[in-house]
Amino acid sequence: MPAEAPRASTPKPALLSVEEAKALDVSRMTELFLRHLNPGQLHFMKLLGFHKVKIERAEGMYYYDQNGRAILDFFGGFGSLALGHNHPRILAARRKFQEEHRQEIAIAFMSQYATALAHNLAACSPGDLDMVFLGSSGSEAMEAAVKVAERAAGPKRPKIVYAENSFHGKTKGVLSITDGALYRGDFKLVDHTVRVPFGDIAAIEHAFRTDPEIGTIVLETVQGGGGIIQADAAFWQRLRQLCDQYGVLWVADEVQCGFGRTGKFYAFEHYGVVPDVTALAKSLGGGKSAVGAMIAKRDVYMKAYGSPKTAMIHAMATFGGIGEACVTAIEAINTLYDENLIDNSAEVGGYLLERLKELQARYPSLLKEVRGQGMMVGLEFHDFSQAMPMVLRPLIGMLDDKLKGSLPGFIGSHLLRDHGVLVAFTEYNRNVIRLEPPLICERQHVDAFIKALDEVMARGIVKIVKDFIAAQVK
Ligand SMILES: Cc1ncc(COP(=O)(O)O)c(C=O)c1O
Repeated sequence: MPAEAPRASTPKPALLSVEEAKALDVSRMTELFLRHLNPGQLHFMKLLGFHKVKIERAEGMYYYDQNGRAILDFFGGFGSLALGHNHPRILAARRKFQEEHRQEIAIAFMSQYATALAHNLAACSPGDLDMVFLGSSGSEAMEAAVKVAERAAGPKRPKIVYAENSFHGKTKGVLSITDGALYRGDFKLVDHTVRVPFGDIAAIEHAFRTDPEIGTIVLETVQGGGGIIQADAAFWQRLRQLCDQYGVLWVADEVQCGFGRTGKFYAFEHYGVVPDVTALAKSLGGGKSAVGAMIAKRDVYMKAYGSPKTAMIHAMATFGGIGEACVTAIEAINTLYDENLIDNSAEVGGYLLERLKELQARYPSLLKEVRGQGMMVGLEFHDFSQAMPMVLRPLIGMLDDKLKGSLPGFIGSHLLRDHGVLVAFTEYNRNVIRLEPPLICERQHVDAFIKALDEVMARGIVKIVKDFIAAQVK
């Protein structure tokens, strides 16, 4: 007779198992989302038709839903899927790591994987961007970037310049240099900041000249959340000069635009300049892991944390350098180069832009502008009234502010429902659809995307609106 199992003194709550989680259908997921995650967010998912989709599988350029339908991913997790979904090399590297029962938490002993990843990041980075801090998100990498710069600048120069329409994350430090009223809420934020228009070199020069307390400037090299906004080469080159002249440290946020997305490993490489500190995250995790990295010039890092006394001020957190994430990132960087994905981003991204410009010429009353570089592209639609027949414009124009984002929303929801194509929206400039497909994207995927967008825009504004309303009442 087997001995009776001892009675647990801590009863197990009503938990779902992994298999039960896998089997949840959309109505049960909706119920749990409402009860435990974010009830308000469901409103937007419903508007876009996302709430009807359960993803069963994801591979390469596609998601596959509960009905076996393929969804072409031109959203790309806001730039976190450079290698596409479940790249076989990433899966294999992770599997091997698991099978070998490697060390995960790298707090006590050194990790061969964390050190190798740091080496690889330094090897991908120009100049003496050699010192690496590993974390688990873009926000954490940017917190590390701002902190290393503040310490290196010294206590007399704590002020940070940041740009209008910037997005650097939602943790409290970097929220202070994130320019979205929506995210800033009513939080009490760091107050030693100076805001300048993005790309305005005169405003930066004025700030540096008149305020000796400024020690750091933080800029996305391409503004993502702001709607895919770039500044020209002359801006970045002059910025570098001004930073050198005034002793200000330049932090380049490459969390979204880095990792090959614009056709160079870092977007700032297009301009032949090197920042003092930079940060990566998103695609660094190969679409599988939560990894962020801050990469600083050696002298900046050493000023901040170079002695045993200061080394632990911002040493890596519990999950910094965790094994499987590092293995994933090492394999992701190798794959990026082995598969020539940076070149592909430039080449196929150029084709995407070209095809979109043709569409813009065909639908000028809907599409206001097409812009970007590589696989980081913004489609700016007109305000709603401008897309309407002339007679309705004055009336609807009064509602333009309230209706901002509705045209891209309608078009995005039709793309998903009628063509199985996923695109991303933009927080600050809601008239912009963001396209950040995986860098494995081929011309055939661009052609499929263009065909779908063409079909939706060819319906004309009135039918686009009617179809949207019909889908809502269904
Ligand atoms: C430019 C930029 N910086 C920082 C972040 C924050 O990254 P995370 O969401 O991983 O914290 C993001 C995220 O979208 C970003 O786009």
